[in-house]
Amino acid sequence: MNSIQFFFDGKIHTVNFDNLPPTTTLLKYIRSLPGRQGVKEGCAEGDCGACTVVIAELNNNKLKYRAVNSCLVLLPSVHGKWVITVEDLGQPENPHFIQTAFVQNFASQCGFCTPGFEMALYALIKENPNPTDEQINEAVEGNICRCTGYRPIRDAAASLRDVKSRDIVSDLEPTAIQELSKIKNSEPLVLKHKDFTYLIPFTIQQAVDLRLKYPEATIINGSTDIALRITKNKENIHTIIDLDHIKEIQYIKHEQNTLEIGAGTRIQDIKDFVKDVFPEFYELLKVFGAKQIRNRATIAGNIATSSPIGDLIPPLFAMNATLELTGKNKRTIPIEKFITGYRKNDLKNDEIITKVIIPLNSDYKYKFYKVSKRTHLDITTVSLAAAVKIHDNIITDIRLVYGGMAEVVKHAQQAENFLINKQINEQNFLQAANIAANEFTPISDARADAQARTILARNLIIKLYNDLINQL
Ligand SMILES: Cc1cc2nc3c(=O)[nH]c(=O)nc-3n(C[C@H](O)[C@H](O)[C@H](O)COP(=O)(O)OP(=O)(O)OC[C@H]3O[C@@H](n4cnc5c(N)ncnc54)[C@H](O)[C@@H]3O)c2cc1C
Ligand code: FES
Ligand code: FES
Repeated sequence: MNSIQFFFDGKIHTVNFDNLPPTTTLLKYIRSLPGRQGVKEGCAEGDCGACTVVIAELNNNKLKYRAVNSCLVLLPSVHGKWVITVEDLGQPENPHFIQTAFVQNFASQCGFCTPGFEMALYALIKENPNPTDEQINEAVEGNICRCTGYRPIRDAAASLRDVKSRDIVSDLEPTAIQELSKIKNSEPLVLKHKDFTYLIPFTIQQAVDLRLKYPEATIINGSTDIALRITKNKENIHTIIDLDHIKEIQYIKHEQNTLEIGAGTRIQDIKDFVKDVFPEFYELLKVFGAKQIRNRATIAGNIATSSPIGDLIPPLFAMNATLELTGKNKRTIPIEKFITGYRKNDLKNDEIITKVIIPLNSDYKYKFYKVSKRTHLDITTVSLAAAVKIHDNIITDIRLVYGGMAEVVKHAQQAENFLINKQINEQNFLQAANIAANEFTPISDARADAQARTILARNLIIKLYNDLINQL
């Protein structure tokens, strides 16, 4: 069959890969179609939002709409979904009310960014027709405009609240649901083009079987990391196993003392879920990339990159998280044992990460800090994740885990040892801050020089002290 099917332009659209590499991005593919050049390519690395489109996924007969960066989505991954672009919203003679709002509020000048903003806002109003200012800001935090200025854009967005005008895209929902339901996925899809092979399993077992059959394959899930190797490094990744269609690994379970997260769960879903149950984690996830990135990026993808500046690894260390890995056999491993070096981990050839288990211990206070040059769409310069157990003003256990201070995420072990059984007071924390700062020999790079990192490491412990005191 060598093809995928998705809902597009009011009907099922089939793409055959006989003449098209399966590593083609959704952006490049859409722009190659007649009359579909509204979606723009700015940065090709997830940083500008000009390429934003909406993907709607069918789950239990309901559609979930998400704005995504089409430059980071590999085309086969939209199999079985609905792709919506700015042309679907409206045309000059019959504009959508979002497009009218942009005109009426003078929210567009050169217009390069406009389709991206409009699609980000379309996904928002499908999720919530009456969004708060905070939700509006979140929806467009991944979109950059270099000429209009953001106030008119925000005014246009605010004017969308509870608009009653007809949305012609929503009129297509029943057809989309009916047509998408007809796409039955049982056996893995095998897409071939010359020496490229792109594999889409639908179950964990199928993924493991494919891992055994294609040991050279690169795994992807949200592809927010791997797509850059294609778009920026111009790498040919010849064999890919795409886990994006495995529903078994897309869930969150909150039990009394644990949070269990399926490996393929998107960061945005985790963020929304933990808002009330784990506000400290929520605050950190708010500054992970931007909404379009979080709508694709998965927890396992973040862990498996095993980067010293990945945002989730320090908190998962501090919370003593464990991972379930599934291959021929199943095993669980503490995340601290899983990461073995700079961007290295203990994943075996037949394995994928299938779940992340986070113990939630109410005896501990958790604090997570990320320092970066800007709030959104920025990589960590230095981060600190702390778990502190306090009894009668005495620290009975403490974990201080730094990102960005060494080639791997690392505990400030001497500072931890120093603080155990000490009183919570300014003097002890100042001393611990100096100890922590001297434990590492960070590098200088484009984000900060070594001295700045050392100062940040020290100051984060002072911030931790202030936050603990305020909370106590
Ligand atoms: C613009 C931009 C902003 C970003 N901002 C941040 C940020 O603020 N903080 C941050 O930490 N990261 C950030 N990232 C990096 C990236 O988004 C995250 O690391 C993300 O979590 C990766 O998840 P993914 O599903 O997209 O991974 P993919 O790109 O699909 O895969 C990444 C790695 O994980 C492996 N993998 C994926 N799933 C599994 C699995 N189930 N089992 C085994 N291996 C697996 C892949 O083989 C690959 O090695 C950003 C990236 C971009 C492009
Ligand atoms: S082109 Fe800039 S985010 Fe995709
Ligand atoms: S209107 Fe020109 S970049 Fe936004």
